This record gives sequence, structure tokens and C-alpha cells, in this order.
Amino acid sequence: MSCPPDPRPFYKSLAPLLVWQALPRPADWGAIFGRRAPLTLEIGVGNGEFMARESTAHPERDHVGIEMRWSSIMRSLRNLEKAQSRNVRLVLDDAKTVLERLFAPRTLERAFVLFPCPWRKHQHERLRLFHHDFCELLNSRLVDGGEVLLVTDWTPYFEWTLAQLPGTGFAIEQRLTDPAFDTKYERKWRALGRTRFHEVRMRKQEHREVPVLEDHPVNPAHFKDCDLERLVLDDTLGGVTDGVLADVLGGVLGGVTITFKELVRDRVRQLVMIRTAIVEEPLTQMIWITVARDAKDGSWWVVPARGCQMIPTAGVQQALDHVAAAARATVTAPA
Ligand SMILES: C[S@@+](CC[C@H](N)C(=O)[O-])C[C@H]1O[C@@H](n2cnc3c(N)ncnc32)[C@H](O)[C@@H]1O
Repeated sequence: MSCPPDPRPFYKSLAPLLVWQALPRPADWGAIFGRRAPLTLEIGVGNGEFMARESTAHPERDHVGIEMRWSSIMRSLRNLEKAQSRNVRLVLDDAKTVLERLFAPRTLERAFVLFPCPWRKHQHERLRLFHHDFCELLNSRLVDGGEVLLVTDWTPYFEWTLAQLPGTGFAIEQRLTDPAFDTKYERKWRALGRTRFHEVRMRKQEHREVPVLEDHPVNPAHFKDCDLERLVLDDTLGGVTDGVLADVLGGVLGGVTITFKELVRDRVRQLVMIRTAIVEEPLTQMIWITVARDAKDGSWWVVPARGCQMIPTAGVQQALDHVAAAARATVTAPA
């Protein structure tokens, strides 16, 4: 008996998804898309419905979507596949991190931000997108005369955004509009009886210089001796023993929070893998660090595990240094 066809429209391709950590930065969008075309950005693509429509309505442009949730990326991939959008790339990460590192100044023609997360509670305000410094960053990545369109349902968010904008190099137009984008969140607010939304159009008038954030060189640690059986990580950074989750016991070092989450010991292959969270706001990275024996001369290396998609940062170096110090201490500290 054959299985009934799955009614869900599956995405057939991960091709639109960029592994941006592996790209040369800032990105060469001409090389990525295989042509030079005006570039449109959408931040917080949600289900990707607007992006699918916009990219097929404007085949003469290329479109990049930044979205921080994997579940939204998956839904977007399906919608992009359904629409047969071929001029789209998606980036899974925080928009500020990606704009800081992946986009060169003056590369974007337009940017859309439809119904950004409002972060309604006062204590969450710092998580909102359109802070003054973010607006300057966005300005820097737009071409001269480039435009941003922001739509929000929530008046306090609209007012807060307007208060961030002076001095960011934008000319502002704002008005109340009818629903026009048919996105999940627009439909959600319409279902609750909302028929008018705040629209803010920001046109770049003066350039703001925000340089591309560069990688920090990351050097592996190399030393002669280590006793893997005694390797336990420093309590200040979360004590971890075999296979035990350390939970959030992170140590904060110069604005970097490092949490050693899990330690996996392979006695046969003489290596230890340590799952490590490194937070350098707004960038959060989860990597595996390897402590491994060199088969040639028996010395030891502490390196990011092969295949790890990571941005080399000062925080990654700090994490390696701490693991290396703990590994060295296994043969120098008294038992
Ligand atoms: C309220 S939803 C709106 C989604 C879509 N634009 C719509 O209208 O249905 C906000 C979206 O922005 C994404 N998001 C929030 N903050 C972000 C950030 N800093 N970088 C990238 N995406 C972000 C969320 O994951 C979510 O998908």
C-alpha cells in the first residue's frame, strides 16, 4: 500500500539559504547572485510571503531576507519555492550582526521591515530593532537616496522609533495606512479589528559612516601535555563534566559571556568536544571546541571543531584560551 501524499508543500531546495559565516565579508552580492542588480533587504521575513511576492514582482532586483528564527526560515523556504523565486537569499541571524559584518556601506537600494517585534515591556525595550545606532547602521548600508519602509501596528513603537531617528541621516515621512502587505502579522491584527497601521518612510539624505565590523583573528592553542581524564572546566565559566549540561553558568569577561554547556570525552580517539555558547551582543554563537591529540607527535591542540560555522571574534579566542588553560592545568596542577 502506498503512502498518501503529504499535503504540506515541502521546500525542495535550501539554495536560497546562505551560510553567511562561511562567506568572504563584506559579501560580494554580484558574485552571490551572478549578476549586478539593485538590492532589496527585508528584516524579519516571518513566513516569507511578502518576500516571495516582492521578488517575483521585481525580477530585475535581488532580494536578501534576514530572519533570526529557524522555524520562520523553513516556512520562508517553502513559500519561496512555491513562488519559484530565484532572486532571493536568506540569512539566519540577528539583523544587526548581519548588517554590521556582511553588508558593505552603500549596497542596499531599499529595506522593508514589516511589523517588527514591538517588545512591549519596558525592560525589553533594549531588544527593539530601531535604536538610534541601528538606524545609523542601516543608513550606512543604503545607497544615497535609498529608502526604508517600516510598518507597525503599535503606536508606542511607532512613537519610540520616531524619537530614535533625529541625527541618523534620514528624511522621514509618516502616515496612517490601510493594510497593504498581506503578511501573517498584518492578517493577525486585521482579524482583531485593526484596519489602520503606522507607516514610516525613511529616505537617506546624508551618509552615516559605520565601518564593516571585521573578524578577530582566532589562534588555536598548542601544547605538549594534557591528561584528558582530568579535564574539567573552570567553575567561573560553568563547570562541566562528561555529558552533563552546565546550564547557564556563564562567566562574563569584558562584555563576553561564555558558557560551557556540554563536554563529551572520547577516550579511544583521545579527544574532548565542548559545546560552548559565546555571547557578544548582538552576536550569539554556539560552537564546539575540540581538545585533540596530534597523531604525529602526541602534542595537543585546542581548536574550533571542524565544520563549525562561526564568526571569528575576540569571544571565540577567549573561549579557546580558557579551555587551553584548563587542559594545560591537567598536568601542571596538583591532583
Ligand atoms: C512580528 S514578526 C513579523 C513577521 C513578518 N514581517 C510579518 O509581517 O508577518 C517579526 C519577525 O522578525 C523576526 N526578528 C525579530 N527581531 C529580529 C532581528 N533582530 N533580526 C532578524 N529577525 C528578527 C522575528 O523572528 C519574526 O519573524
